[in-house]
Amino acid sequence: MSADTRYAIAGTGNLGSALARLFTRAGVEVSIANTRGPHSISELATSLGATVRPVTLAEALASDVIFMAIPFGAVEAFGNALPDWKGKIVVDTTNAHYAPDAGDILKGRLSAQYAAEVLPGAQIVKAFNQLPAQTLAAEVPSGHGKRVVFVSSNSEEASSQIAELTRTLGLSAVELGRIDEGGRLIQVPGALTLRNLTEQPLT
Ligand SMILES: NC(=O)c1ccc[n+]([C@@H]2O[C@H](COP(=O)([O-])OP(=O)(O)OC[C@H]3O[C@@H](n4cnc5c(N)ncnc54)[C@H](OP(=O)(O)O)[C@@H]3O)[C@@H](O)[C@H]2O)c1
Repeated sequence: MSADTRYAIAGTGNLGSALARLFTRAGVEVSIANTRGPHSISELATSLGATVRPVTLAEALASDVIFMAIPFGAVEAFGNALPDWKGKIVVDTTNAHYAPDAGDILKGRLSAQYAAEVLPGAQIVKAFNQLPAQTLAAEVPSGHGKRVVFVSSNSEEASSQIAELTRTLGLSAVELGRIDEGGRLIQVPGALTLRNLTEQPLT
């Protein structure tokens, strides 16, 4: 992660808004897009402040790190928006478990494995999917530690970049390793999903 890294959130619903809130709180600039265009995001952006920039989806996709905060059923169409995702980190926040026809689409694959196939060239990081959006965005009361976000990727470099960003956003990052191992634990209904954990310094 460098000072020049450009971040974007695709999706302005529950999770996209929660992520935008985290970026705002940390003072990190982020672009945000949906399928309807920047005008539909102006109210959200105004409520959050100048560090959240509503853009077109095409502009968002020019970023280096893109949070995919869209319904699982929209992932294939999202993937088709670029011919080649090489050089981009895509943070897959989707939970296929709640999506209709997920079993037919996944055919035994984990959702992040599926995302890697339909976004060719992208470095997929599974993260920010394991808590309800409201919980993720809620501030932990002072003295109660930092909220834990689990991070999994087949790319150690991408995992480490997203873990670093997670810490910059004021959270605690726990890297779980490869998608087929750690990622499995944070795919709903995996053992680490819906665990609202906080990390505190050892005394
Ligand atoms: N809600 C939660 O608590 C929660 C928690 C963890 C993970 N998740 C996961 O996060 C994802 C989003 O959930 P949500 O509750 O935020 O859904 P949501 O409120 O329905 O919002 C979905 C957003 O995705 C956008 N979108 C759809 N297709 C798109 C595309 N091809 N390109 C760009 N944007 C697109 C929609 O844009 P338009 O408004 O233009 O249609 C909308 O802004 C889901 O996969 C869900 O499983 C949700």
